[in-house]
Amino acid sequence: MTVYSSRDIRNLFLAFFRNRGHEVLPSASLIPQDPTLLLTIAGMVPFKPIFLGQVKPSFRRVCTVQKCVRVSDLEKVGYTPRHHTFFEMLGNFSFGDYFKKEACQWAWEFLTEELCLPVERLSVSVHEKDEEAFRIWRDIVGLPEEKIVFLGDEDNFWASGPVGPCGYCSEIYYDTGKERGCGKETCRPGCDCDRFLEVWNLVFMEFDRQSDGTLRELPSKNIDTGMGLERISAVVQKVESNFETDLFLPLIRSLEGLSGVPYEKEKPVFRLVADHSRAVAFLIADGVYPANEGRGYVLRRLIRRAHRFGKRIGLVKPFLHELAFRVVELMGDVYPELRRNETTIAQVVFQEEKRFEDTLALGFARLEELLEEARAKNARTISGREIFKLYDTYGLPLDFTQEVLREEGFSFSQEEFEEEMERQRTRARKAQEERFSGLKGQKREEELFSGFRSTFVGYDRLSAESVLLALSDGNELIPEASQGAEVLFVLDVTPFYAEKGGQEWDTGWFVTPSGTVEVLQVSGPSAALSVHRGIVREGRVKVGERGKALVNEKRRRGLETHHTVTHLLHRALREVLGEQVKQAGSFVGEESLRFDFTHFAPLSDEELEAVERRVNEKIAEDLPVYVSFSSLEEAQKRGVVALFGEKYEFPVRIVRVGDYTAELCGGTHLRRTSEALAFVILSESSIGAGIRRIEAVAGWRALEMLRASRKVLQGVRGLLNVEEAHLLRTLEELLEENRNLRKFLARERKERILRELQERLEKMPQGSLLFAHLFEDGLDLELLREVADVLRGALSRGAIALGTAEGEKVKGIIAGVGLGGGTNLGAFLREVSRTIGGGGGGKPHFAQFGGIPRSRWGEFLKYLEEFLKAHEAGHGP
Ligand code: SER
Repeated sequence: MTVYSSRDIRNLFLAFFRNRGHEVLPSASLIPQDPTLLLTIAGMVPFKPIFLGQVKPSFRRVCTVQKCVRVSDLEKVGYTPRHHTFFEMLGNFSFGDYFKKEACQWAWEFLTEELCLPVERLSVSVHEKDEEAFRIWRDIVGLPEEKIVFLGDEDNFWASGPVGPCGYCSEIYYDTGKERGCGKETCRPGCDCDRFLEVWNLVFMEFDRQSDGTLRELPSKNIDTGMGLERISAVVQKVESNFETDLFLPLIRSLEGLSGVPYEKEKPVFRLVADHSRAVAFLIADGVYPANEGRGYVLRRLIRRAHRFGKRIGLVKPFLHELAFRVVELMGDVYPELRRNETTIAQVVFQEEKRFEDTLALGFARLEELLEEARAKNARTISGREIFKLYDTYGLPLDFTQEVLREEGFSFSQEEFEEEMERQRTRARKAQEERFSGLKGQKREEELFSGFRSTFVGYDRLSAESVLLALSDGNELIPEASQGAEVLFVLDVTPFYAEKGGQEWDTGWFVTPSGTVEVLQVSGPSAALSVHRGIVREGRVKVGERGKALVNEKRRRGLETHHTVTHLLHRALREVLGEQVKQAGSFVGEESLRFDFTHFAPLSDEELEAVERRVNEKIAEDLPVYVSFSSLEEAQKRGVVALFGEKYEFPVRIVRVGDYTAELCGGTHLRRTSEALAFVILSESSIGAGIRRIEAVAGWRALEMLRASRKVLQGVRGLLNVEEAHLLRTLEELLEENRNLRKFLARERKERILRELQERLEKMPQGSLLFAHLFEDGLDLELLREVADVLRGALSRGAIALGTAEGEKVKGIIAGVGLGGGTNLGAFLREVSRTIGGGGGGKPHFAQFGGIPRSRWGEFLKYLEEFLKAHEAGHGP
């Protein structure tokens, strides 16, 4: 058996299939076109649309060496000889051209004649229902029956996912020898032990699995084969694990050099780091950047894991970029994208490791302390309270902590964690209320801390080792403060951003060996002094003590999101409305932003939409945000936006977002615009002559807002049971219908009332002067008047009194008919209100009243009747 290098194997493979009519294609990107896949996980991924018949192939036979990344078994990587994140898959494909016979024959030929693997070591498996494949192996390739095993779906049915192309497969195994196996009688290909390695998977791709699980035949019968380069190299190079092949060994040697630790001592660490460095380099070369979701998150996790494991062999400073560099050296000629992106790869890895160091190192160290303590006590759990503190105070992401705990075999009480979370919420709510409570009316901060200076280091780090220089209760300097005290304090170096230029302050913690202060607000009375306000939450703190200053990362992230987006908004407004637009004020908060600007008229819907779209485009363009310094004159010459009336320090700091905007700004910003996720304008209004205000949200808040409005919309859709596109029209129709119904009902009611009252009026005894009715159900006076107008016609002399009850009071009208001169209903009402209460007034023959106690309605009518009688008497026959 010849010992080929992995490079030879790649070349032999491609040449072998080229000679059999295959077009050699370069590897596709690790970022698949297929939106249902996060990463390219197999050689067939780029060809899915061809298999599905959606795209016509340019070649019927193709072979590739495809870059793949799988993270489904991330936890095993490093601990086994054969798990990887990044790997290369050798594959030959037929799109409706040759099928099982050629696939089997050629695979066999390649292994035995090109790679010269000993035939006696090889065997194959076929699907238990695939007689055809069995016969091909036995009758055409010529394998003895005992070399062919039948296995079920689990081993011999391959699918690219829950839905999509799939089919029976046949696998070729290499026997590494009895001594490597489990020794059981039943040991054979398919056994879980390490003896029979599956080296090549031949998939007879003929079905398209539907979402209901049924198999639909693909438009053509296809072949998809896959052989892991790492594994076949290990076989050919006769080494125990993939990590000892020429693909990994140079990386492992470099790591030995960097750490001074031999591979033999810490195999899993070396394996894991070597594996991850390859994945990291290749992912970045294909355009993936660290992020908190999707592919970016895969990359971030890999970098953090490698960094974390590196610590175990004493690599404390960022080191992974060096290894990534080595990957470029080793594979750059095969994958030119590595060469092209060499600097980016090194930079991104370095920055991410550095960021990890800056923001998480303290928390990680604390976590390790906790694990140590637990181990010493032989405990396997960590208190939920401590885990919460790591999360809340140290800003260690929970998923990261969980991963470490899992790998180290520890757990923590989720319940306790939730309890702490709840407690913290209550505390935060209270803290919000009591923010300034005890410290009002104090001396000016400059005066209080005159002579003290502090340096702000928070532009690129969220934590610092700081000395507590001065402490105050708001009135005078004090040497120390204990739990519950509200304090002002100054640190020699501080990562906390003091409120400035519209951006709100950072919050967080200052932790000393003896106590903890929660930082609730930070102000900067001068550029060289930051004053922190907070409450001592635990123990006591003393002047002169050294401690850890830890910024709340979530809040800072929110502030940075809204600040970067504010710059985009400023620029977009000038693009849409014209360059005369000037910033007139700005507020950058954790959860929202406000931007005030000069403009003479309200923005139209189209203008608002254009501004919003522009900002979102810039977010999607993933522009880098960078900072530079220059003299003010220089900056103005280059057209950098400066705000009139602001004071600038020298040299001025310029924040650029790609080529899109450049502003003088002292604030903190995102690293790339895509971190802002999305931008939503909430309102636009006037706040004074010629000044408009836009309120908006970005980042997670924006997504939450959208989600909430979608929910409302879905609710409305559900209620109306119509498509979204028809929602407005349906609502308009409904409102119109509602208006008509109301009109109809009102008419109906009026008619019913009239009918009833007319009937009663007709039955009224001869000679009575008063017809009265009290309605129980709150009618409006207009209706009563209309009714009275009609009833009048049926009465020759007297009055109609209609009341309607509103709770304990009655309101209504009185209409007189044929009353003599001198009768004045308005005067009667004024008169009677003195005795009964309520009030009223009007003309001689028509009056309106209200506020008459319900209990005295009868009495009221009696007075009215007497009044009418008196006036009739006065009038005479
Ligand atoms: N698609 C199959 C696999 O990934 C063969 O390439 O194993």
